[in-house]
Amino acid sequence: MSRSSSGSRAGVLVIGGGVIGLAVAWRAAQRGLRNVTVVDPCHGGGAAGVAAGMLAPVTELQYGEEPLLRLGTASNQRYGSFAAELTEASGGLDTGYRRCGTIAVALDSDDREELRELHAFHQRLGLESSWLTGREARRLEPMLAPGVRGGLHVADDHQVDPRRLLAALVAACERAGVLLHRAEAAELLVDGGRATGARLSTGDSLGADQVVLAAGPHSHRLPGLPEGVLPPVRPVKGQVLRLQVPDAYRPFLSRNVRAVVRGQHLYLVPRENGELVVGATTEEQGYDTTVTAGGVYELLRDAHELVPGITELPLRETSAGLRPGSPDNAPLLGPTSLPGLVAATGHYRNGVLLTPVTADLLADYLATGEVPDLAKPFTPTRFSPDVPTTKASA
Ligand code: GLY
Repeated sequence: MSRSSSGSRAGVLVIGGGVIGLAVAWRAAQRGLRNVTVVDPCHGGGAAGVAAGMLAPVTELQYGEEPLLRLGTASNQRYGSFAAELTEASGGLDTGYRRCGTIAVALDSDDREELRELHAFHQRLGLESSWLTGREARRLEPMLAPGVRGGLHVADDHQVDPRRLLAALVAACERAGVLLHRAEAAELLVDGGRATGARLSTGDSLGADQVVLAAGPHSHRLPGLPEGVLPPVRPVKGQVLRLQVPDAYRPFLSRNVRAVVRGQHLYLVPRENGELVVGATTEEQGYDTTVTAGGVYELLRDAHELVPGITELPLRETSAGLRPGSPDNAPLLGPTSLPGLVAATGHYRNGVLLTPVTADLLADYLATGEVPDLAKPFTPTRFSPDVPTTKASA
């Protein structure tokens, strides 16, 4: 076994210190894997630092994504205990996990038709989702515009605060003995047809028994990664606004509000501390994270139609992040066709939601060498024609 030039060899080397990489590392260390190391120039960053943190497998359901629904529901069900355990493991850091439920509402009759179809789809799948008239929606959320045409209520779609979640994961990793190495992975090291570690931007090399690629939309661009091992993970930009609800206006909203506003999708996530997150654009234009006047305008325009009082609130922050989208928008979880290289990437719109289940499944695989059943539809080799597999979106 080669030794690293920057210290002892890692049992597990995680490339990427965002929400997924940190959670996998924490769980792997808890499973007794030795020398778990995460490399990232800035641990606790990535798309989750921008995300609103809606945990909404039911209201975000898309047609044809039933396997993703199963994964999302499994993760949502684990969230309460995951958050409580993380708070304890981090020395008391709260994650902002809040069991608030979600409504999805429509602004015009076409929007209402879209939500009626979603509701019918929920019913076919036996999901908890109840139809609301406009009046019932406004009774739940009095700040909604009088024109809201109805929608649906999903009591089990909740929220977490991704920035607090990241801070808790960093602390829990440190307390669990995970080495957080502040550097960029400059190259994947491959020897004898196996991933053996990474060369870092510092010039050091770090040897590892298993390498986990959790670098979000940068995953497939890692130099040294043999062609065809990972499909492209494309960046999908999302612009997000953060407003602050003054004490005198609270509760402004009591639960997550998703909406279809003349065909455009929007969500508002109100936190207990008064922060109100409004998101998000969906833009396929490479690795650009510029906040644009057009993006902010569209979000505010639609949010104002939905909740007119929003224009009274202080606007605290605008930001943009890059969702990591795989070719079928489902995550890549588990061993790749390169021995020693494991993927935990491509979570697209669901990185925060899928954090607990991804961490559990990956830690299981890293500790046992067996791919858990729940992860099987999401194998990274599903895009390789010569590898028999189950399609994630079949
Ligand atoms: N899951 C919310 C988003 O991707 O915007």
